[in-house]
Amino acid sequence: MNDLEDLLQRNIEWATSLKDKDSQFFVNTSKQQKPKYCWIGCSDSRVSPSQILDLPPGNIFVHRNIANQVNVNDTNCLSVLEYAIYFLEVKHIIVCGHTGCGGIESSFKKQSSKFINLWIDNILQLSIDHKRNLDTLNCGAERFDRLSELNVLNQIVNLGDLNLVKDAWTKNIDLSLHGWIYSLSDGLLHDLTGKVSSLNDLTIIRSLCAPQISGE
Ligand code: CO
Repeated sequence: MNDLEDLLQRNIEWATSLKDKDSQFFVNTSKQQKPKYCWIGCSDSRVSPSQILDLPPGNIFVHRNIANQVNVNDTNCLSVLEYAIYFLEVKHIIVCGHTGCGGIESSFKKQSSKFINLWIDNILQLSIDHKRNLDTLNCGAERFDRLSELNVLNQIVNLGDLNLVKDAWTKNIDLSLHGWIYSLSDGLLHDLTGKVSSLNDLTIIRSLCAPQISGE
């Protein structure tokens, strides 16, 4: 069996096992989706949300890119968020980074990539803004993982600064943001922010990832 035949066979076995547990599963989920969660995560193959959250199809609306970024110029991400907030009416948006993130590590290295360098430009700036803090850490892996955390906080701020989110809060729509980190070493998630559901909450997160002022 070649790689692709293996994938198709796995799909048959997966669909059969779900139908064995609930004969109406696909009949019901094909009618509508009503997820409570929107997930913005890294494209890394080890951090697949439905898998690490142990959720069946229909529970989580997903956007993934390199290093889980929310960029005001990214119409892909913005359209996912618009659909999630105003059509699906999700209650929670989770930004999830992870330890050992290649996108984060790339910002420390000079690589001759064309598109990745452009994409991680914001993370490069973040590493410059927090250089003194990052330099206090002993090894590269610790620095990468601290930068992953700062990046999640920064993306929560980017998310909360979007009109899509601010308008929802102004209209008293029940919507909260959450910044998490997934640890590749033990498969566990860690909550970095708690529930961020107002501009006041966002101010606290903003202070946690604000650029360090020289001499401070
Ligand atoms: Co990653």
